Amino acid sequence: MPDTWEALEHDCKNCRECSLWETRTNVVFGVGNQNAEVLFIGEGPGANEDAQGVPFVGRAGHLLDDMLEIIGLKRDDVYIANIVKCRPPQNRDPLPAESEACMPWLREQFRLLRPKIVVCLGRIAAQRMIRPDFSVTKEHGTFIEKNGIFFMGTFHPAALLRQPQNKPEAFGDFVALRDKIGEVCVHTY
Ligand code: URA
Repeated sequence: MPDTWEALEHDCKNCRECSLWETRTNVVFGVGNQNAEVLFIGEGPGANEDAQGVPFVGRAGHLLDDMLEIIGLKRDDVYIANIVKCRPPQNRDPLPAESEACMPWLREQFRLLRPKIVVCLGRIAAQRMIRPDFSVTKEHGTFIEKNGIFFMGTFHPAALLRQPQNKPEAFGDFVALRDKIGEVCVHTY
């Protein structure tokens, strides 16, 4: 695996490790601050992301931006990536084999970034990054420390658009995130 962000992104954009490359328009590598202490991980690109090559740019992305803003953060303060870098057809869940094939890219992003806090947006990311039986409904907002890194799972913004009644709880998770940033992060935002 390459040792720089530039080389990693270049290689990732040429990836054909699973069949999602056949239907993608763009690889959605990830965006944000390469020195960020907070990493957000989503599930995979949707139609807008596939068209633009940037994560979370559709309606769900706007909601994510709003939630970040409420706690005083901008996209450029954090790093945003996905479990799978190519859009699954019809926005279906990524297949386990697709997530598995894609994980080396995220692992390298993780290694280069060395985040202090990881926020998993939705079940797919939380079950992959925290625990295979993680329940967002029951465990959202709780920080779980692994090797000195704090992981938290919360509602996926697209799920919040479908079920706005969960927004206050999601907001609570972002307030908890802000507090955790104050505790463990060095940068002032
Ligand atoms: N949903 C995700 O999980 N990731 C994106 O990048 C966009 C929508």
